Amino acid sequence: MNESIAEILFSEESIARRVNELGARISRDYRGKKLTAVCVLKGAAVFFADLVRKISAPVEFAFITASSYGAAAVSKGEAEVSVPAPFEVCGKDVLLVEDIADTGVTLSCLRERFLKSGARSVKICALLNKPSRRRVKIEPDYVGFEVEDEFVVGYGMDFAEDYRNLPYIGVLSRSVYEE
Ligand code: IMP
Ligand code: MG
Repeated sequence: MNESIAEILFSEESIARRVNELGARISRDYRGKKLTAVCVLKGAAVFFADLVRKISAPVEFAFITASSYGAAAVSKGEAEVSVPAPFEVCGKDVLLVEDIADTGVTLSCLRERFLKSGARSVKICALLNKPSRRRVKIEPDYVGFEVEDEFVVGYGMDFAEDYRNLPYIGVLSRSVYEE
């Protein structure tokens, strides 16, 4: 195990099982529809790649960048959003795929923007949910796992751009970000 990881919360195997279940539920809910899966970069990239392959409905991909953290372990309270390749959301059934619903600022910002742009529906799939940290009222429609108020990394999630490639999800040792 990486020496900066205090504890492994979810192993590669348990993540794969859960992603399978989420894919099956999403496939059922979107039967007969085409969905536009929007990957919130960079944290959700690994989850997105695994999840879309477990969805049997037709899926269109889109990628956006949103960040409320910068190189810190606390949210700045607002989300900076940019779209690498513009895409049409008008009339589409959008599924926002995010790594963590934390304060909820990023997701509620994004949902508002998509609804304003004329999306027919906007649902949220978050791999992790930290409800204790919520600052705005928003609930993901699909959640992989609930987590405590701890800083986690791996399976796409970073601290200052490190640890994204760990195959499991672990708690980052406090000594890494507390001087
Ligand atoms: P929110 O806008 O506060 O909900 O922030 C959500 C974003 O913060 C997530 O997409 C993550 O990128 C980041 N984030 C929140 N908690 C953690 C964590 O424990 N580890 C890594 N990134 C996190
Ligand atoms: Mg993120």
